[in-house]
Amino acid sequence: MPTFEIGDVDFLLDGRPHQVISGALHYFRVHPEQWADRIRKARLMGLNTIETYVAWNFHAPERGRFDLDGPRDLGRFLDLVAAEGMHAIVRPGPYICAEWDGGGLPGWLLADPEVGVRRHEPRYLAAIAQYYDQLLPLVAERQVTRGGPVIAVQVENEYGAYGDDQDYLRALIAMNRERGIEVPLLSCDQADDAMQARGSVPELHRTVTFGSRAKERLDLLRRHQPTGPLMCMEFWNGWFDSWGQHHHVAPAETNAQDLDDLLAMGASVNLYMFHGGTNFGFTGGANDKGTYLPITTSYDYDAPLAEHGAVTAKWHAMREVISRYAPVPDELPADPAPAPELTVDLDRRLPLADALPALGEPAAWDHLPTTDELGHWTGFTLYRTEVTAEDRVLTLAEVRDRALVALDGEPVGVLSRTEHSRTIALPARAGELTLLLEDQGRVNYGPRIGEAKGLIGPARTATRELTDWTVTPLRLDAVEPALAALLDAAPAVAAGTPVAGPAFLRGTFPADAGADHFLRTDGWGKGLVWVNGFLLGRYWSAGPTATLYVPGPLLRSGDNEVVVLELHGAEGARVAFAAGPDLGSSEV
Ligand code: GLA
Repeated sequence: MPTFEIGDVDFLLDGRPHQVISGALHYFRVHPEQWADRIRKARLMGLNTIETYVAWNFHAPERGRFDLDGPRDLGRFLDLVAAEGMHAIVRPGPYICAEWDGGGLPGWLLADPEVGVRRHEPRYLAAIAQYYDQLLPLVAERQVTRGGPVIAVQVENEYGAYGDDQDYLRALIAMNRERGIEVPLLSCDQADDAMQARGSVPELHRTVTFGSRAKERLDLLRRHQPTGPLMCMEFWNGWFDSWGQHHHVAPAETNAQDLDDLLAMGASVNLYMFHGGTNFGFTGGANDKGTYLPITTSYDYDAPLAEHGAVTAKWHAMREVISRYAPVPDELPADPAPAPELTVDLDRRLPLADALPALGEPAAWDHLPTTDELGHWTGFTLYRTEVTAEDRVLTLAEVRDRALVALDGEPVGVLSRTEHSRTIALPARAGELTLLLEDQGRVNYGPRIGEAKGLIGPARTATRELTDWTVTPLRLDAVEPALAALLDAAPAVAAGTPVAGPAFLRGTFPADAGADHFLRTDGWGKGLVWVNGFLLGRYWSAGPTATLYVPGPLLRSGDNEVVVLELHGAEGARVAFAAGPDLGSSEV
């Protein structure tokens, strides 16, 4: 059987020096019917390896559930990598960062404040053991030593940026080895002496993450690890976008030059990202380095392969660089055809208030609960209470992360964590106060990993603390039959009528099965979009993204359905599909 080992200066594949030229492609950010196409385009660029994280909470959305089917079928993904003749690197965390909700750590695990986060704590380790029991058999049986594609597994992620608990790292190593992982175990850390020192142990082979100045960064890694292959585990050839900020781009020529410098040193590389994909549904994470910044739905990343699978100038530039170091196939992928352009009238309108019976069950509380206390790990939650004319103002300890405030259904304003606003004046009248709370994504980096979501009390007014609440977690992960039935029965609205939210709108449009679409979101405020019942994700006029990518496999021939939940208001009850993506304006 083949072997893959750490040599004195190189990785050794069957005993011979081997330069890993890898690209990151997260199966959980790509429609499963497109996995093969994206992997093939990686091989055609000259890559010999595909790297993927594993997002624990994607497989385990609830305590006691573990899913490996359809979009979660990691075994099938790895088999497709093997079928392309490529190797795989798997990074199963348990923490992955990755601009993913909570960095992959499940909300249901960390809701218990007794459970440790990213340290040697028995309850935390017991949960990881169970996760590994469910996941690692499929990785172990696909190791290169057993005839499969997997050449290495990474433990934790940039741990030196968070902690220094070596017992924790050693427990993770032992749990991997006990479950049959025999290929090299790696760590990755930023190009920072303190982080490199804290983030690894001698049983792990160290790698480094950076986006430029390859020689300087690899020299730093060398100081912490005198022998063995040099590897940049994340060569940041682009960057992620946050709502309300500009769209990030990284020039292809600069990336190509840095890649050339790195490969010329004989180092191995994993391009982060080769293909970014999409944060579908409620899967995007957030950063909070003093200001909370949620991640956009698009995870295009300005990567060589665009979000919709098109090769870019960067793909060509990198292919040319790689061809100086490794054989590159002659074949070039075809450009995708422009997507259909059409306008769709949304002819059904259902106010959110009328849809509530289909979305969740209200429960009474004698204090203000977090959404973690409700066992509701993502998305939207409706909080209700009664106020009097004397209350006059509402102030919360914290809002995680954004709430639409209304009195008897009339909009009062918005509380936003990003804007550090947690106090709002109320009209001087009695009525039902509602806060439609949006969890905009769990923080995926830094000390706020693991914090609870929801409204954080106490909730005070000018005269008292509000303690009697009725709270409804909303099921919005798919257009469920009960919601579909209410939409069927909703009154028709005239084409183009302005939309007052929060309300659902629905329309139908013709398509060819399998054709990619790009839904323009300009003219709309903030909300969610489903196509044929699948939650594409969030849109927001704050930008930068102005289109949502609709993967072709979601479309069928004949009638297709689009449902929008608009929170604020829209110019007109219609949506448009565009020929290509519009990811917003960039700084350069
Ligand atoms: C770090 C993390 C990745 C990702 C990138 C930024 O390198 O390891 O998971 O968050 O930053 O995209």
